[in-house]
Amino acid sequence: MADEYTTISDLFIQQFITNKMNIYNFSAGPATLPLDVKKIIEQELYDWNGTGCSVMEVSHRSQEFTNMADENESLLRSLLKISDDYAVMLIPGGARLQYAMLPMNVSSTQGQAVYAINGHWGKEAVKEASRFCQASTTAEISASVYNSIPAYDEAELNTQADYFHYTSNETLEGVQWHHVPRTAGLRLCCDMTSDLMTRVVNIDDYDMIYASAQKNMGIAGLTLVIMKRDWIGQSINLLPTMVNYKTFADTRSFYNTPPTFPWYVMLQVLKWTEAQGGIKVMQQRNQAKSKKLYEYIDQSGFYQNKVEPLFRSEVNVPFWLHDEALDAKFLNQSSQAGLKALKGHKAVGGMRASIYNAMPESGVDALIDFMKKFEQKYG
Ligand SMILES: Cc1ncc(COP(=O)(O)O)c(C=O)c1O
Repeated sequence: MADEYTTISDLFIQQFITNKMNIYNFSAGPATLPLDVKKIIEQELYDWNGTGCSVMEVSHRSQEFTNMADENESLLRSLLKISDDYAVMLIPGGARLQYAMLPMNVSSTQGQAVYAINGHWGKEAVKEASRFCQASTTAEISASVYNSIPAYDEAELNTQADYFHYTSNETLEGVQWHHVPRTAGLRLCCDMTSDLMTRVVNIDDYDMIYASAQKNMGIAGLTLVIMKRDWIGQSINLLPTMVNYKTFADTRSFYNTPPTFPWYVMLQVLKWTEAQGGIKVMQQRNQAKSKKLYEYIDQSGFYQNKVEPLFRSEVNVPFWLHDEALDAKFLNQSSQAGLKALKGHKAVGGMRASIYNAMPESGVDALIDFMKKFEQKYG
């Protein structure tokens, strides 16, 4: 770490060395994992659950693995308060597969669907859905510049549509819905890839929620899909077995060989989340971390965040230097100071700090400390 920008106190450095951690990773995803989870993975690598081998080497049909899957589902249900009216499915293919699976399963080429667009991922979702149904968006429910969420008149919504879809947290732009959209009775579907588990959600408000795991539930390879059971298995399309929700709901995601290691990591992250106090505690921490960072950015004349305060994300904080010519220096020097992966997505530019559940408050403190020193030097 560079002396000039040593943002991490000696005490932390000592802890880092002891804990085999020497950086803060602000990656948007795959994102930083809790240190305790990595330690458990390391410990169990050679002997998982008394099997004498790692979890990667046992049959998914074995008693050990099915017990693990049961524990995972019951922890998901208790953390998120998911009732039995919903199926809990773990599906490979990432959140992007859900962009297609949803319309394939619940709509048709003649069917309609309404998409609210507030950023990059919503745009991708409607593009993919348009291949399978008449997916549309309107200016009323979509932003023209991705820095807010426009208010809309519910009465204007197309009530012939099969569902209403939105993205609760736009990961690139740092725009987050802090309310549940009104849908004039349409079924409500949400891509919660970057904020599920980071704040309290009332699952009963939704018909379908999905989130890939690599931000707040472990590593890439699995997407959690929570879906009202009464909406599953009604497809009028002839679907391949592996993209039919019924396959996953009926077999509890065991139809084929699932990605077993990501499943195991998910359980470790869920256990960690529970041990921290559950989702309410995660929400409190994320609010405290993001508040601190936004407050620092807002009072500075050197940095800025362009999102309207009401719609700012509690987990992805983009920021820009007023002088873009300093971007490269900022990224280079922050990286040397142990603050990694702060580059904003190329579609948005600038910087972005992803401060999901596993990012400790000390990471945000270290970032602010660095930003102050950088401002003093170049401001
Ligand atoms: C909100 C959101 N939706 C969808 C995706 C795409 O997820 P995946 O790469 O798992 O398909 C991402 C990825 O970062 C995301 O942040």
